[in-house]
Amino acid sequence: MYNSKITGVGKYLPDNIVTNNDLKQWMDTSDEWIQERTGIKERRWIDAKNSDDTTSSMGAKAGKIAIERAGLTTNDIDFIIFATLSPDMYFPGGGVRVQDLLGMPTVGALDIRNQCSGFVYAISVADQFIKTGMYKNILVIGSENHSGGLERSTRGRGVTVIFGDGAGAVVMSQTKNNNEGVLSTHLHSEGKYAKELALEGPSTGRWVDAIMAENNPDDVSYYPYMNGQFVFKHAVVRFSEAIIEGLEKNNLQKDDIDMLIPHQANLRIAQFIQKKFGLSNAQVYNNIMRYGNTTAASIPIALTEAWEEGKIKDGNTVVLAAFGSGFTWGSVVIKW
Ligand code: UT7
Repeated sequence: MYNSKITGVGKYLPDNIVTNNDLKQWMDTSDEWIQERTGIKERRWIDAKNSDDTTSSMGAKAGKIAIERAGLTTNDIDFIIFATLSPDMYFPGGGVRVQDLLGMPTVGALDIRNQCSGFVYAISVADQFIKTGMYKNILVIGSENHSGGLERSTRGRGVTVIFGDGAGAVVMSQTKNNNEGVLSTHLHSEGKYAKELALEGPSTGRWVDAIMAENNPDDVSYYPYMNGQFVFKHAVVRFSEAIIEGLEKNNLQKDDIDMLIPHQANLRIAQFIQKKFGLSNAQVYNNIMRYGNTTAASIPIALTEAWEEGKIKDGNTVVLAAFGSGFTWGSVVIKW
């Protein structure tokens, strides 16, 4: 058996910055409310009129950087894993678009549909392929274009102000050293809460003709719905459980964590976890202030920034943890 290790990281954010005050042109909200409840100051939203960014193209741009930083070329990549809840098309998914956009050989491409936990699930899947020796280098991407599908009105403000666009990517490569790289991954789900954070239509359960036939101006089924406080309460519990599970599996203590990268759902959630585990500011990386919640992209973007800032060094213990729609949650423990 081999181990998998992250050999390259990359990110791509659209240029267009939307501050909390900018949101006031569409909805009744305030910088104070958003900062106090979420920690978010601004996010990136694709400027649809002046940019050709898409979920796939952003993912490809982040992926290209990760491949270069791994010291590889696209010809060295054996497989693509693409995590998103906002694909360019209903089908096919974003992975095949990346294969085309980066001019890659006809390697396999798999899409992961696990929302905020998508990147943690994607890392786990890549890890299994590498452990068995099936693949040597896998490009793992998390990318989201939320702004194209959010309701820009006061009715949608509870969700719309939170989400941002962007992409992050890593290259995972085979290593024969079983003491480095991904040490363990932990995945969970609880589908009875699927509707607490969901976008129901259009889907085969609620198709376009039904939506059009009803023609109901109060229909919000094609916008994301989140039962915010309910999700929040579950998030703090599941984040903690996933981190503890990862530590226990590897006989690690809280103090052994050099860097915790939580999915950037809400700064208050990250701060709660930090306090609960008694971690210092240097042990937790947050950038939700600048990008909002970018769902499957949030962990790889944060991981890339932490690495770029020199906050992740060889030998460090890095923990990734996520919770989100599904509900799904999980963690990854890495010896960098
Ligand atoms: O990434 C996947 C996982 N996601 C999460 O973990 C998110 C978890 N939940 C949360 O982060 C928080 O619940 C939110 C940030 C979504 C909301 O914060 P909250 O403190 O739970 O607020 P709330 O939804 O209970 O709303 C409180 C009030 C309401 O007004 P009333 O009914 O008290 O008069 C809302 O209408 O705030 C109002 N409100 C807003 N006001 C200004 C909701 N959205 C806004 C807004 N601007 N954007």
